[in-house]
Amino acid sequence: MGRTFDENKLPLHVAIIMDGNGRWAKRRGLPRTAGHREGARTLRRLIRDLSDIGIRYATFYTFSTENWKRSEDEVNALMKLLEDNLDDVVNYKDENIRLRFIGGRERLSEKLVKKMENAEENSKDHTGLTVTLAIDYGGRDDIIRAAKKAMELCRDGEISPKDLTEEKFSSLLSTDGYPEVDLLIRTGGEIRISNYMNWQISYAEMYFTDTLWCDFDRKELEKAVEWYTSRSRRFGDAK
Ligand code: FPP
Repeated sequence: MGRTFDENKLPLHVAIIMDGNGRWAKRRGLPRTAGHREGARTLRRLIRDLSDIGIRYATFYTFSTENWKRSEDEVNALMKLLEDNLDDVVNYKDENIRLRFIGGRERLSEKLVKKMENAEENSKDHTGLTVTLAIDYGGRDDIIRAAKKAMELCRDGEISPKDLTEEKFSSLLSTDGYPEVDLLIRTGGEIRISNYMNWQISYAEMYFTDTLWCDFDRKELEKAVEWYTSRSRRFGDAK
């Protein structure tokens, strides 16, 4: 059993950039796709750990709008991994997990979209950890889609420009109804955001670790959460 944290200080919403699968595989002389398969196993373990620690929302950067630029082989392998292993990686049936997806669905296969829709429908009343996989997701794309919705509402006379508050705009994003991200974790050593949830991380605490995603385990997660609980969050206010 791991450690327990002060429940009042736990991050409500953790967003995770799972970076380093390619390097993990390369160090072992394996193809990059083997790294993604191991990454999926890591994801499965981490979901259990997050749930066990008492986190309520966890949102994973699974495939970005930029990832389409990778080789056809790698894109196909990632898509197949998602199609074939979604229900296994996120065991929403047995673990009371609410599974959601954010990102565009237009470029995904019919098979994958069907699986996503089924999972969302079958888990919508679950009351445990909300796991969100961001697939074909980009933070700017999220904002543009919300801006288009706002313009349509304006055009249809449902709102006027002065009604577009931060709160209203947030409700037009893919994360409508979610709490803002409290803690962003990025594995794999890079210190950047890579177009992930740009709007939603405005006040997040940022935790960067050199540990590669496939090596990110319960102990590493607890280190990140412990670091978070020691932060003083002021949201622009003075001390
Ligand atoms: C970034 O590492 C990782 C990805 C682009 C893929 C993340 C996907 C998973 C962990 C699999 C999820 C699977 C299911 C079934 C939900 P990278 O390839 O950029 O690594 P590198 O920086 O070392 O090259």
